Amino acid sequence: MTATRMGIDIGGTGIKGAPVDLETGKLAADRLRILTPDPATPEAVAEVVARIVEHFDWVGPIGSTFPAVVRSGVTMTAANVDRGWVGCNAADLLTKTTGQPVTVLNDADAAGIAEMRYGVGKDRKGTIIMITLGTGIGTALFVDGVLVPNTELGHLEIDGEDAESRASDAARTREDLSWKHYAKRLDQYVDTLVRLFSPDLVVVGGGASKHSDRFIPRLTSTVDVVPAELLNEAGIVGAALAVEHH
Ligand code: BGC
Repeated sequence: MTATRMGIDIGGTGIKGAPVDLETGKLAADRLRILTPDPATPEAVAEVVARIVEHFDWVGPIGSTFPAVVRSGVTMTAANVDRGWVGCNAADLLTKTTGQPVTVLNDADAAGIAEMRYGVGKDRKGTIIMITLGTGIGTALFVDGVLVPNTELGHLEIDGEDAESRASDAARTREDLSWKHYAKRLDQYVDTLVRLFSPDLVVVGGGASKHSDRFIPRLTSTVDVVPAELLNEAGIVGAALAVEHH
């Protein structure tokens, strides 16, 4: 019997979920996406997660992403989310609201573990950094397949500014940057990562990765930079995988 786990991906604009077949890394049913409530307080978000779980009549362990530092189920930061999440025991809250055991992890870490298991990182050793380009910049660092959680390299300071405020996909749309201009900013960001970590591979995921042909070829990095394979579903799949990791 193949293991199926429920994965939930909590983002700033949408909350998505689906059962995931862990053998193949594919969704076992069409995903359900519900708009993130505004304000996205812990209670309001938990209600949406419960609706998704009910929609699938899901009974059993659940993994959920969250776009912040997550330590032992507690959300520690709130760069792009409601401040009410700082210090919130998200795992306990979601477990109580859904009635099922919930494991919570950082969203980029989830996308990273999914890519390492089923995507471009499969069977790759060495130092691999996954970056997710969306509302913020998320990062996941792997050393010989082992995750170093909560790296938060999207907040590296470059030229005195928070990297994600200049090089996230949201910055690109907010400032209406051409792909050429955006690629320049990303190039500087990737260069900084390369200088600090000497990775063997950089994987680009998140919303912007579906347009990666517009900017990856313009990067000057000597290190391989490749688009993620799982695209939109990486968060859901990684969340489901995290149930087994914990
Ligand atoms: C947060 C990270 C998150 C990333 C992507 C950043 O602003 O600090 O925790 O992984 O956005 O959502």
